[in-house]
Amino acid sequence: MCGIIGYIGEKQAAPIIFSGLKKLEYRGYDSAGIATLNNGIHIKKDVGKVKDIHSRINLTDLPGFIGIGHTRWATHGGVTKENAHPHTDCSGEIVIVHNGIIENFQELKRELKHHKLKSETDSEIIAHLIEEEMENKGFVEAAKTALKRVEGHFSLLILNKNDKRMIAARRGSPLVIGVGKGEYFPASDIPAFLDYTKDVIYLHDNDFVVLDKNGPKFFNLKNGENIERVVSTVDWDAEQAKKGEFEHFMLKEIIEQTETIQKAINQKMEIVEEVVGDIKNAQGIFFVGCGTAYHACLTGSYLFSKVAKKHVNVVSGSEFPHFEHFLTDKTLVIAVSQSGETADVLEAVKTARKRGSKVLSIVNVMGSSLTRNSDKVLLTHSGPEICVLSTKAYTAQLALMLLLAYATAGKIEDGRDQLKNLYNMVYNLTALSKRKKLKKLAEKLKDKEHIFTIGRGLMYPTALEAALKLKEVSYIHTEGFAGGDLKHGTIALIEKGTPCITFVSNGTEKEILSNAMEIKSRGGYIIGVGPKNNDIFDYFIKVPKSSVADPITHIIPMQILAYQLAVLRGCDPDKPRNLAKSVTVK
Ligand code: M6R
Repeated sequence: MCGIIGYIGEKQAAPIIFSGLKKLEYRGYDSAGIATLNNGIHIKKDVGKVKDIHSRINLTDLPGFIGIGHTRWATHGGVTKENAHPHTDCSGEIVIVHNGIIENFQELKRELKHHKLKSETDSEIIAHLIEEEMENKGFVEAAKTALKRVEGHFSLLILNKNDKRMIAARRGSPLVIGVGKGEYFPASDIPAFLDYTKDVIYLHDNDFVVLDKNGPKFFNLKNGENIERVVSTVDWDAEQAKKGEFEHFMLKEIIEQTETIQKAINQKMEIVEEVVGDIKNAQGIFFVGCGTAYHACLTGSYLFSKVAKKHVNVVSGSEFPHFEHFLTDKTLVIAVSQSGETADVLEAVKTARKRGSKVLSIVNVMGSSLTRNSDKVLLTHSGPEICVLSTKAYTAQLALMLLLAYATAGKIEDGRDQLKNLYNMVYNLTALSKRKKLKKLAEKLKDKEHIFTIGRGLMYPTALEAALKLKEVSYIHTEGFAGGDLKHGTIALIEKGTPCITFVSNGTEKEILSNAMEIKSRGGYIIGVGPKNNDIFDYFIKVPKSSVADPITHIIPMQILAYQLAVLRGCDPDKPRNLAKSVTVK
């Protein structure tokens, strides 16, 4: 996954693109570059994070009122200056930035072997393909013809040295256009231009846009027809996409959960009722998500069993195609995703639709590919989640799962009350005193090689999510297990001092404490997370009793612990190594 942004208008493009790239860095941060148009093409690019590149080569002094920029997360070709975007054709007249994967890259490269490719990327081929087509066509027609030949997915911005227009196109990868007064900001995601406008055009797959100062003209790439696209206004604001007083987005987003959980339950009753109708009428329900969203799905399955007495299947997005044969036109697929752009989830939805199944999505980013490919959408309303780790989007997904389980049981008000009660609890859980206590624990854990997390019932997915949070940001190997499972093998790894975080919740107390005891007897260091201290615990993290909302209250201290560990170990909490915010490749 990469981030792209362009600008066309009456201001200097480079500083706007530079600020947009910083906002898009959660999408990729191993190299970056900008190209502007001003009596020729001007390009600067290098490896590293945007601000480090800027301090070395000043990205903002490129001249011109039109420009494009890119921040990269390497897929084809290593992290080198040559592989950084923008890329040009042989003549240096066509310049492109690209997010996505060109699947027929090798084939096109063989065909264009008389062209001199300067990088190892699949993206560069697009510039050469357009160059080839320009032998007998104008810029716009050449780009259209070239893109028709490209297989795979892309969001693209293209400039030509001899033309004052910018071309934007998308298929599979996200692309929206910020609409200002006489200025346009095509970008991978809304936070890139929120400082300038809240008006947005959501592009669809196969949209091909010609942009100049007079506005965009939209075409369908497949049949060349003119199309219309509408402008919507987003309810996100620029402040939400800024760190403000916080050192990192991760901490800011953890603290925001006091508000975001409440926003998530603020759903239109008619839609919730319709969804409940779909749930009740369905013959077979699948929850699908990846990573953290998968853990929300798993928690949802426990909630549906406990509260709604309804069976649901839970499948990770990447495995979903293997369940295709269970799908019919009576099946309901509930797809959960923060970004709405995760390739495996989109593929799962495609599979479901092919079989005639209904698709409901629980998603944070309005206008994302998932929202457009679903029959119904419940938005989590968490605002932009910039940190690569999912925190506030996760608890919002959990809140919606809980609400739907209660609504299906015909007790929506009980569900709402439970969630409203969380306001004070979450406020206290994220307070400075709690953060300081967790910092002390992080100091004890920071040099450990392994951490284990265990939970039973509703706390089992919480154990998995806690392990994911801890490992992805601190790089300490952490594994989550169902409390009863460790003794079937993994207990062999417990040595003197091995930390084991034990989640204690109503109803599973006795069994999980006895699992913790098995670990303690082998030298394990037991960290208890629950409402009541116990002699077994070497360290205790108190969380309030909240019954079925325990997955929310118990995960928050773990998010904070993960953050503290990252900071103490010198890791960047917002941009962990090798990760990208949304994984748009299969
Ligand atoms: O945008 P999505 O919710 O679909 O993303 C799914 C996962 O890629 C994401 O949750 C990932 O696991 C994060 N690194 C979790 O912090």
